[in-house]
Amino acid sequence: MTDFFDISGKVAVVTGGATGIGAMITEGLVRSGCRVFIASRKQEVLEEFTSRMDAIVSGAVQYFVADLATEDGTAELVANIAEHTDHVDILVNNSGASWGADFDAFPRSGWDKVLNINVTAVADLTRLMLPLLEKNARADAPSRVINIGSIMGTWPTKSVSNSVGTYSYTVSKGAVHHLTKLFSNELAPRHITVNAIAPGPFPSRMMAFATDAKESRDALAENIPLGRIGAADDMIATVTWLCSRGGSYMTGAIIPLDGGMSAWA
Ligand SMILES: NC(=O)c1ccc[n+]([C@@H]2O[C@H](COP(=O)([O-])OP(=O)(O)OC[C@H]3O[C@@H](n4cnc5c(N)ncnc54)[C@H](OP(=O)(O)O)[C@@H]3O)[C@@H](O)[C@H]2O)c1
Repeated sequence: MTDFFDISGKVAVVTGGATGIGAMITEGLVRSGCRVFIASRKQEVLEEFTSRMDAIVSGAVQYFVADLATEDGTAELVANIAEHTDHVDILVNNSGASWGADFDAFPRSGWDKVLNINVTAVADLTRLMLPLLEKNARADAPSRVINIGSIMGTWPTKSVSNSVGTYSYTVSKGAVHHLTKLFSNELAPRHITVNAIAPGPFPSRMMAFATDAKESRDALAENIPLGRIGAADDMIATVTWLCSRGGSYMTGAIIPLDGGMSAWA
């Protein structure tokens, strides 16, 4: 009964793993004894976060500078990872971007940019990672893909914080949820589970405008049944369970991690 949630020794890739929700996930995996490869565009951010993780478990995190908005950047990341490991147990597709503008002024570039990184890159990276994900995948110990969706993917609101509209973001996260279900069917025979976590508001760079100041954080919390925004522990515990033996029979699920917001009557 005791090793349901043991994930020590697993090899993980977390995109955008040095900031916000990705950093929470990476630190959780490191503290649970995983080796984690992280990737995003800003070298100094990756470097600073990696040395923070080194202080917890030396060498547990290795970073790669990668722009996942491009086909070459995505392929190069997979090639770099393959030079350092022959398998990957866990892929967390976390990198994402948003765009805010009033409806009448919402530019086409705001759709292209957001759909590219939030949807196309997730599909492409998952496909290119398959040889590494399949290497150690077994029926009784599947490899895991976790996509970070959003409450906005299930709840078609233009904004969770009453600010400008994030139309393309909402649509992109709906697509992430759909992709998750589609890919779960496709990859189940290959012993890979695919699930999405659909967070409500969590503190991060992307959400700093709404979560940094106490006043706006409190205003946000008023619309959350449990009365608070998400915390690192909430995210880490959910990811740990999904990656563990205890999570091996779950696939194609969109898991709301939103303090009850998506069930708000
Ligand atoms: N925070 C929330 O309340 C919340 C709620 C629901 C869902 N989410 C989702 O959670 C995920 C993480 O967001 P966050 O809130 O933690 O914000 P964040 O700290 O801004 O994280 C976004 C990450 O994506 C990376 N990224 C952006 N463009 C990239 C690119 N072209 N190539 C590679 N990496 C790229 C960023 O790194 P670089 O800029 O260095 O590339 C950054 O690490 C996103 O998918 C977001 O939609 C967040």
